[in-house]
Amino acid sequence: MKPSALRTIHREHAALSAMLRSLLPLLERYRRRGTLPDFGALRAMLFYLDEYPEQRHHRQESELLFPKVRARSPLARELIDQLDEDHRRSERSVRDLEHALLGFEMLGESRRLAFEQAAKRYVDAYLAHMALEEQQLLPLASRVLTPEDWLEIDEAFEANQDPLTGHAPEAEFQAIFTRIVNLLPAPLGLGEAI
Ligand SMILES: [Fe+2]
Ligand SMILES: [Fe+2]
Repeated sequence: MKPSALRTIHREHAALSAMLRSLLPLLERYRRRGTLPDFGALRAMLFYLDEYPEQRHHRQESELLFPKVRARSPLARELIDQLDEDHRRSERSVRDLEHALLGFEMLGESRRLAFEQAAKRYVDAYLAHMALEEQQLLPLASRVLTPEDWLEIDEAFEANQDPLTGHAPEAEFQAIFTRIVNLLPAPLGLGEAI
């Protein structure tokens, strides 16, 4: 049977892709209508990205999954170096994106384009990173890791409990997650379809 960590990773990637793919059309719609976004909801989304995908998913990959694959498959060094570097860059990028959003909120229209461009760079880089993991890293991990390796990895990923993949949000995340669901367009969330 497929290790549960692999199912979790695929599920988290799918949910995150759907969210990231909906962000740019959402920003485009605000621009078309000449309206300002719901800044609080966008801040909630960026905070979620930092707390879950960046701090949990990436950390489990970089601290547990990647070192095990590295140990079993020395030829994968270049691939894993790149994925680790993506993680480091992504963590900085989400903070830059939060700052660009703050600029848009504080200074208005003059900072709209800068935020849109930063969002596009973040989304494009993140989607490319997940594609590389799906196409190269995960198939390699399936081939080289042993059942004992997977036991530890499965247990670690079990703890992620990402609300975007259907887990009940932890109590303090409830309000944030509700804001995100209300912002995202249907059928992904409860917001207006794009
Ligand atoms: Fe990753
Ligand atoms: Fe990943």
